[in-house]
Amino acid sequence: MGSSHRIKVVSSLLHLCLLLLLLSAHSSETPVGKCLGTESCQHPRPPVVLIPGDLGNQLEAKLDKPSVVHYICYKKTDSFFTLWLNLELLVPVAIDCWIDNIRLIYNKTTHTTSSPPGVNISVPGFGETSSLEYLDPSKRAVSLYFFSIVQSLVEWGYTRDDDVRGAPYDWRKAPNENKEFFLKLQQMIEEMAEKAGRPVVLIAHSMGNMYTLYFLNQQPQAWKDKYIKAFVSLGPPWAGVAKTLRVLISGDNNRIPVISPLKIRSQQRTAVSTSWLLPYANSWPKDQVLVQTPTANYTVLDYKHLFSDIDFEDGWLMRQDTETLVADLTPPGVAVHCLYGSGIPTSEAFQYSDKFPDVEPTVVFGDGDGTVNLLSAVQCKRWIGKQKQSVTLKELPGNEHVNMLVNYTTVAYIKTVLFSP
Ligand SMILES: *[C@@H]1O[C@H](CO)[C@@H](O)[C@H](O)[C@H]1NC(C)=O
Ligand SMILES: *[C@@H]1O[C@H](CO)[C@@H](O)[C@H](O)[C@H]1NC(C)=O
Ligand SMILES: *[C@@H]1O[C@H](CO)[C@@H](O)[C@H](O)[C@H]1NC(C)=O
Ligand SMILES: *[C@@H]1O[C@H](CO)[C@@H](O)[C@H](O)[C@H]1NC(C)=O
Repeated sequence: MGSSHRIKVVSSLLHLCLLLLLLSAHSSETPVGKCLGTESCQHPRPPVVLIPGDLGNQLEAKLDKPSVVHYICYKKTDSFFTLWLNLELLVPVAIDCWIDNIRLIYNKTTHTTSSPPGVNISVPGFGETSSLEYLDPSKRAVSLYFFSIVQSLVEWGYTRDDDVRGAPYDWRKAPNENKEFFLKLQQMIEEMAEKAGRPVVLIAHSMGNMYTLYFLNQQPQAWKDKYIKAFVSLGPPWAGVAKTLRVLISGDNNRIPVISPLKIRSQQRTAVSTSWLLPYANSWPKDQVLVQTPTANYTVLDYKHLFSDIDFEDGWLMRQDTETLVADLTPPGVAVHCLYGSGIPTSEAFQYSDKFPDVEPTVVFGDGDGTVNLLSAVQCKRWIGKQKQSVTLKELPGNEHVNMLVNYTTVAYIKTVLFSP
């Protein structure tokens, strides 16, 4: 593969990854004098915790497998290696090994997922920023994610891994299978707040917002009052995202020609978080056709039928396992700043030929940030007046889902939240 072609593939892959990142958050606006105890009230900055989106932090793997899908695949490794994101692994043939390592196996008796035999997955760098500042440790420059925001914080006086820290997690799973993550997150927030003598600002992107909402919904109000100054929500898919339908039905290679959508579909379907992010009936019009085929129309109320017709019955179980986690959109009970892009064509519905589901659809576009539908991002508005803390919505016209993380307006907004009293 020529180097310019290679670069194109690499940058398209990045785009793919980043397009799928579904989280965001930011916040501020807190009663004056919110100091913990008596000391350090003069400390000028609230600590910051970053919560990434789907595909938004590195994953590592260690192998000792009974068998492999191709002779070129590693069966055993001595140590952990980067599985996500490692652009070298996403080229033809190697991608088959990659899929067989990153996929999950769903057990419909226990309603839990596990890695294939002999695959040990770990999430590196909890509490650090490196695993979400860039996704491919060997190609930092082309895989930047939270880097701009962290770098800006450092310029404002923050210190990496001290008063700005990352909360990476296994984004293939939904919160019901990430209990340990939430415990670690709670402990880290408490530690950072105690050390700084003031409450923490959470900044989430994409699906990280759903994770953060779930986390805050589990905490007593007294805990939130004590430890959280604000929640800055960047590109939040509060009510799900229409593009997940395409991902599950026919796979989404994000227009990268070397990756077959049907091949990547086999992996994409196993990630429970994708079924979790299907559009929610709490916000989507119940008569809006999301998927059309010559013989059927599917709305937000037809997922059981849809999963059956695409021969992916486990998907329906995964959806049922996870749907109630945040479906009622209970107010977070902390000051929220909801920032979202608009004006970018965003997948809204899919039309399939009679080759459904093994064919690429015709896409109907609507408003959003290119990934998250505007309808979903603005659902934080329902919290206005439903919680005593402030709820601020800020539309960022022309901002794409991931590019919003490097936009000056976003960064400047975060600064005002951090440095407001
Ligand atoms: C699912 O889990 C149950 C209970 O642990 C176990 O007995 C069963 O063998 C598992 N099923 C598969 C297919 O692994
Ligand atoms: C995976 O690796 C970690 C770290 O080496 C180890 O603690 C854990 O027991 C391993 N898990 C399995 C299932 O082998
Ligand atoms: C699906 O809906 C369209 C209009 O939105 C309608 O023309 C078509 O007949 C419907 N198809 C089926 C199979 O009901
Ligand atoms: C940054 O966001 C603002 C507000 O949406 C927008 O007007 C501006 O064009 C964006 N800048 C870039 C470089 O995308």
